[in-house]
Formats: sequence, C-alpha cells, structure tokens
Amino acid sequence: MMKRKKKIAALTMSIALIGSLLSTGAASVSANEKTPSMNTSKLLNVAHRGASGHAPEHTIPSYELGEEMKGDYIEVDLQMTKDGTLIAMHDESVDRTTNGTGLVKDYTIEQIKELDAGSWFNEKYPEKADPAYEGIQVPTLEEVIQTFGTGARYYIETKSPDVYPGMEEELLRILNKYNLTGVNERSSKVLIQSFSQESLLKMHDLNPNLPLIQLISYKEPATISEEELQELSEYAVGVGMSASKIDGTYVQKVRNAGLLIHPYTVNDKEQMTRLLDWGVTGMFTNYPDVLNDVLHGK
Ligand code: G3P
Ligand code: CA
Repeated sequence: MMKRKKKIAALTMSIALIGSLLSTGAASVSANEKTPSMNTSKLLNVAHRGASGHAPEHTIPSYELGEEMKGDYIEVDLQMTKDGTLIAMHDESVDRTTNGTGLVKDYTIEQIKELDAGSWFNEKYPEKADPAYEGIQVPTLEEVIQTFGTGARYYIETKSPDVYPGMEEELLRILNKYNLTGVNERSSKVLIQSFSQESLLKMHDLNPNLPLIQLISYKEPATISEEELQELSEYAVGVGMSASKIDGTYVQKVRNAGLLIHPYTVNDKEQMTRLLDWGVTGMFTNYPDVLNDVLHGK
C-alpha cells in the first residue's frame, strides 16, 4: 500500500491508535458519521483534470466541459511556483502540457502565465483540436475557484508535497478565503486527496473537518487489512486507487469500513458498470459524459 518506510510508520501509528482507543474505551467513528452530509448513495462523477479526454487537461475549457458534461467534481492537481502560487498542473515539470521546459518550482507565476497550455493538445489530438485552445494559460487555483465559484465542487490533490513546503497551509488559506471550509466544512463541496499520507495528516491537523481521500498506489492486485482500514478511518473519509488493481472483495471491504471509494481513471463503459456493480461510491474519469450516460442507464 505504501512505501516501506511509510508503511512502518503507518503500522506504528495504527498500533498507537488501537491502543489509545482500547484505553479510552472510545468507539471508532466511521467516515460517514464524521461527515453526515456526505451522501454515499450519490455516485460521484469526478471530471479528472476536467473533461480531459476532450480538452487540454487542467485548463479552464477542460473544467468548463467537465461541468457541462455533468461532472459532480472538478479535479484539480496542484503544483506550486517558486513564489508560492498554487497552480493547476499534474506534472512537476511543465514540459508535457505546455510549450515550456523545466520544473514548476523554478518558475515564478508571472513566467508560468507566459506559457501556452493548449497547443500541445491540438498537436497530439488533431481530431479533437480547437483553435480556441491555442495560447490558453495555466490557471491558478484561485482563478479556478473564481471562475467556477463556491457553488462548484472541487476535488483537490496535493501533488509532490515534499517538493513544496507550505503547500498545505497555502491551500487552506485559499479554501478559507473563499469560504470553502467554515459552514461548508463538513459538506462534500471540497475533497482533498493525496498519495502522501503525511500531507493529508498535515491537512487534518490544520483543519480536522476537511474531508480527505487517501490515494493508494498499488503495484500488485490490491489488498487492504482491517488494521489499515482502521488507521485510514481516523483521518480520511475515503480512498482512491487504480481501478485496474481492485476487485469486488476489495470494494466491499472498504465500504464495510464506512469509507468512500473512488477508483481512477475509468474511461470505459464496461469498466464503469463493473465498478458500480461492485459498489464504488464514485470514480475519476476523463469522460464525464460517458460516466453520466452509464449512471443514467444509457
Ligand atoms: O487523483 C486521482 C488520480 O488523478 C491519481 O492519479 O496521476 O492522475 O493524479 P493522477
Ligand atoms: Ca489527480
């Protein structure tokens, strides 16, 4: 589930947590009890990097299409510039999704804004190309929130948090500024996700009411122990992992522990249907239009 060092730390934490629960006699609290407004019967359609099967990932047009195609959440991966601005980008490097080269951490936000985040898509996918994508800018997290408002739902990932000290504090500052915590803090308006347990625990320390999703990277077919589920339930409301690594038994184990389960990245109708039959509570897709059809039996 986790790298060896982290796994040892995680197991240590599990033992400490179990010990503390036994000593206080406290019952464990399920994710849904902690977040009563999270409706597990609503199957979440997460527009992965926006509707990134149709438009350049992590751009405003991609997020707009995600909303038009009935995505429930706009997924935003975060990187941070050298002057501390959170931007929407999947990779640590700008090479793949812009006309620039080098690492985001070596760019100021002013320099990032000079890059073209759309032309690569037109070149790579001529059948989906749109002249409107040429020259579009990399959006900052604040611009995304300003564009789509506090009525939209955001599924935000802290990427490479070890590279960006202060990333979690800056994220929370922005969420607070736009009132995406506070009265909404127990709603599912914003979900925070990360492969980094350390980053999620930091977010949890900063604001224990934020709904958190632990992403798990499996190299082999996924298994999960009761001990791991217990540990996850202490800070997260759910988990996400590659859809190709799980089966129905895994899904039921997670659901029985009261956790949400959002596999990624599911673009195929048959796989969507299979996962829904297994009982997942949502999924990430580059094609929210396709998932919407599946969810409505089309
Ligand atoms: O966040 C869910 C999924 O997006 C994780 O993979 O690499 O696409 O961010 P990645
Ligand atoms: Ca992601």
